[in-house]
Amino acid sequence: MVIARTVAELRSAVAALRRSGKTIGLVPTMGCLHAGHLALVDLARREATACVVSIFVNPMQFGPKEDFAKYPRPFDDDCRLCEGRGVDVVFAPGADFYAADSSTWVTEESVSQGLCGEHRPGHFRGVATVVLKLLLACGCDTAVFGRKDLQQLAVIRRMVRDLDVPVRVVAAPTEREADGLAMSSRNRYLSPENRARARVIPESLRRAQALVVAGERSAPVLLSAIRGHLATEPALRLQYLEVVDADTLRSISVIVPGRSVVALAAFLGDTRVIDNADL
Ligand code: PAJ
Repeated sequence: MVIARTVAELRSAVAALRRSGKTIGLVPTMGCLHAGHLALVDLARREATACVVSIFVNPMQFGPKEDFAKYPRPFDDDCRLCEGRGVDVVFAPGADFYAADSSTWVTEESVSQGLCGEHRPGHFRGVATVVLKLLLACGCDTAVFGRKDLQQLAVIRRMVRDLDVPVRVVAAPTEREADGLAMSSRNRYLSPENRARARVIPESLRRAQALVVAGERSAPVLLSAIRGHLATEPALRLQYLEVVDADTLRSISVIVPGRSVVALAAFLGDTRVIDNADL
C-alpha cells in the first residue's frame, strides 16, 4: 500500500495503477476509520479495480466553535485498517493541501440549504471545495459516499452534475452499531450514559418507517410520533427533525413512499448526532 502525502505523489501512484489497467475508486474520509468507512472501501473495490482512501481532516468544513482541533487522528491505526482491507493508496495530505492564500470555493446553493446547512454555516461550502479538490487530485472513475450524510451526498451529486465532473458517485448504506446507532467517528465523544441514550434515535426512525409501512402518509403525524419517542430521553436535545423529498431535500407534508426521507440532528451532551431513514 502506497501512502501519498502530496498531490504529485498521489498522481504518480494513480498513474502506475492505470498503467496496469486498473480503474480507480476513491473513498474520501477524515480518518478515525470505523466499520462504516470500511464498508465504503469494500464497495469501492467492487465498483473499481483499485481503491484510494483519502484521509484529511478538512479545516474548511469546521465552524469556529466545532471540533477541528480535537477531531481524532489515529493515522497509524487507519493505515493498518486500510491495508487489511486491500486499499492500494492512502492519500493523506498535510495542511498545505490548501495554498496559504487559497481563495477559491465551491458553493452549492440549493440542496445545501436547510437541515445541517442551516445550523453549520459554511460547512457544505468546505465539503464541496475539498471533495472537488480530492476528485481532481485523484482523477478517479468512481467516488463512494455514505448515505448517513444525506445532505453531503446530495451536495456532492449536485456539484458533480452541475460542473460536469467526470466521476461516478456511488452511495453506500448506513452501517450501524448493534443497537442501531449509526457509526460515526464522533460517537467516541459520547459518555457511556449518553451512548446508551443514543439508541432512541435509530429506534424512533425505525418506528417512523413502521408507521409508513402501516399506511401513515402525514409528515406532521410522523414527526410528532418521533418527537414523542425521543422525549423519553430528556437529555437529548433535538436540533432539527424533518421529512424531506429525497432528491430536493425540501420539507414535505405528505409522505411519498420510496421518495421521502426523515432526517434529524440531535445533541447528547456536546456531541452532535445525525441520522436519517428512507420512508
Ligand atoms: P467522514 O465523516 O470521515 O466520512 C467519510 C465517508 O464515510 C462519508 O461518505 C460518510 O458519509 C461515510 N460514513 C460515515 N459514517 C458512515 C456509516 N455509519 N455508514 C456508512 N457510511 C458512513 O464525510 C466526511 O468524512 C467528510 O465530510 C469528507 C466527505 C471526507 C470531506 O471532508
